[in-house]
Amino acid sequence: MSGIAGRWPVARTEQNREFLAIADLHAGYGAAKVLHGVGFSVAEGEVCAILGPNGAGKTTLLRALCGMVKVRGTLRLGGTDVTGRAPEAMARLGVAHVPEGRGAFAPLSVAENLRLGAFTRRDRAGVEADLRRVYDYFPILRDKQREPAGGLSGGQQQMLAIGRALMLRPRLLLLDEPSLGLSPLVTKELFGIVHTINEEERTTVIVVEQNAHLALGIAHQAHVLESGRIVLSGTAAQIKADDQVTRSYLGIRVRP
Ligand SMILES: Nc1ncnc2c1ncn2[C@@H]1O[C@H](COP(=O)(O)OP(=O)(O)OP(=O)(O)O)[C@@H](O)[C@H]1O
Ligand SMILES: [Mg+2]
Repeated sequence: MSGIAGRWPVARTEQNREFLAIADLHAGYGAAKVLHGVGFSVAEGEVCAILGPNGAGKTTLLRALCGMVKVRGTLRLGGTDVTGRAPEAMARLGVAHVPEGRGAFAPLSVAENLRLGAFTRRDRAGVEADLRRVYDYFPILRDKQREPAGGLSGGQQQMLAIGRALMLRPRLLLLDEPSLGLSPLVTKELFGIVHTINEEERTTVIVVEQNAHLALGIAHQAHVLESGRIVLSGTAAQIKADDQVTRSYLGIRVRP
């Protein structure tokens, strides 16, 4: 399958190492402070894995990156300061969020759900082409395009959620626990597709995942979050090699 004729063509040689730059990020829910000065950068076209135990603030971090929670600190996307922008503004900038729990509109058909993902776009021909492209990634969605989303299996709903995010033509794709509730086989297939999307579209991806082994399998860089702070950062290979540290310190298994 050929890659999309992207709106954001950037050759490998021009890769922006600080496509997303996060500095001293604080976020929470009212009085409940969750993130305490998180900072890291994501290079354009790379997959970044966020690992960490339950309650570490991983979901909150993704919410902060797409404007769903109030933040203090600095967020820069493609060199532009986007700190404090609303979710819709972030979507228009190409930040697509696939939340925990997927959030399909159950009574609507698969195709209608996918079209909703393109709500910021006016290029109808492009939207139709992207719909075909999503069906190429997820042929089961093509087969079920007229069926209500509520009738899909868990794995198919996750595919629909990712497909809907792709309809935005994202520059940055935020995936929150894509494997949640899925069988190992379906999870593996899903990660394979995310890997292909990253390779073919050059979409920058941040994936939050409990299954560290799978996430590190497709990630370039990884960060371990604990109690709202980054406690370990490195290339996926470095984090994998640090199995002893991660297992004893955080109870995360990075090898199968
Ligand atoms: N809407 C909310 N209101 C208040 N507190 C919240 C809210 N959502 C999450 N929290 C709290 O923020 C902290 C971090 O939660 P978060 O969901 O970001 O963690 P997580 O790393 O995604 O955990 P998990 O692995 O369980 O998904 C937790 O203590 C949680 O109870
Ligand atoms: Mg979470």
